[in-house]
Amino acid sequence: MDQPQSDALVFFGATGDLAYKQIFPSLQRLARRGLLKGPVIGVAKAGWNLDQLKARAKDSVEKHGGLDPVGFPILLDLLRYVDGDYSDDDTFARVKKELGGAKHPLHYLAIPPSLFLEVVEKLRQSGGAEGARVIVEKPFGHDLESSRKLNLDIHRVFGENSVFRIDHYLGKNTVQNIIFFRFANSFLEPVWNRRFIESVQITMAESFGIQGRGGFYDGVGALRDVAQNHLMQLISNIAMEPPPCPDVESIRDERVKVLKSVQSIQPDDIVLGQFKGYHDEPGVKPGSKVETFAAMRLYINSWRWRDVPFFIRTGKLLPITKTEITAKFRQVPPVFSETVPPANYVRFRVSPEPVIAIGSSVKEAGDRLRGCMTELVATQECGTDNFLPYEELIGDAMRGNQAWFAREDYVEESWRILEPILEADITPQEYVPGTWGPDSAAEMTKDFGGWIDPK
Ligand code: BG6
Repeated sequence: MDQPQSDALVFFGATGDLAYKQIFPSLQRLARRGLLKGPVIGVAKAGWNLDQLKARAKDSVEKHGGLDPVGFPILLDLLRYVDGDYSDDDTFARVKKELGGAKHPLHYLAIPPSLFLEVVEKLRQSGGAEGARVIVEKPFGHDLESSRKLNLDIHRVFGENSVFRIDHYLGKNTVQNIIFFRFANSFLEPVWNRRFIESVQITMAESFGIQGRGGFYDGVGALRDVAQNHLMQLISNIAMEPPPCPDVESIRDERVKVLKSVQSIQPDDIVLGQFKGYHDEPGVKPGSKVETFAAMRLYINSWRWRDVPFFIRTGKLLPITKTEITAKFRQVPPVFSETVPPANYVRFRVSPEPVIAIGSSVKEAGDRLRGCMTELVATQECGTDNFLPYEELIGDAMRGNQAWFAREDYVEESWRILEPILEADITPQEYVPGTWGPDSAAEMTKDFGGWIDPK
């Protein structure tokens, strides 16, 4: 069913980090495409005026991709600013005024989760929520119970088809391509299951630390910052069944089905780490037990995946910044030599650059039937019309397309999977910056050839 196009965009947290790094550059590009219809209203409590917001927008686009002489003036023309406290009715009365006659505004809550409900409620009271949609940033809740409550509370104001729980991983072309590659090629699907695949690994490694975001990070840690959302999305794409048809809910149903089949992770299945020096970061509480590294093992209880371990690892201040998924095939018995050739694998590099590679054994040069491993690089990104993840997702939300947004049940399942380890209150082990986390993480994969470090 055709959804109405949003005719105004309101973004709360307009002077914040997310707006600076992601939202302005994306809005500039949407403006160039002619996809911003109506006013773009930034809201924050910073004591700023519109000129200051415009200067911030300029600085933002210059630092993140460059100022587009076509898109930027359009964005500037549409930009409005409301300065005020989120607990103040007057702030919302002024937002409503700036909305003018907009019938389907999109409200983007680029603000700390603790403020979501207050803003949603004020939008209701001011009439700003009528006919509107809302984008809610991650993390959506803090655990299973709080996410259920948040869903209930938001639904008092916005119906599920107006709620857009954003996860920028879903807007990445490389992440969408996992599903596309799997279901658009006939050679992979027949072997993409427990009979052929021995184990799956996902590594989301970052060589940088918490980048001055101690105040935020110390309230979440690696599990809530990336495991509950970005990593779950990768698991879903790798493991989901083909949807019966390509409509929004059929795709989302399949994604939820994967999570429903994942066993909740137990404390024995996880190693948490904290980089040495974390406590010296500004904004971090003294004695904080927040993890900056997590390595875990999970199982998907489905016909396709039962007994295949999925090893997932993420961390700050690791040796490299790369996100990769590797599905390792079972080994063939030796035929040509006594040595068993290395197992085949399929490797998806999700960032920073897209790569899909198939690891295969080929014969070594020489007079012996001996093999070596080589990669068939299956694809580089084709096409030229790249969208930034936030550009694509904000554009989708403005059109009412929820395909790449987390549904209520999806979010709740993702928290359910992590619940036992969140409750266990595990003390993270210290690791040295620039290493692959605590030594005990290595143990986890030792029967499966060890961790595959992205190169
Ligand atoms: C964000 C997290 O959601 O994702 C950050 O808050 C993390 O901690 C970032 O660094 C990673 O995103 P990307 O697109 O750079 O892989």
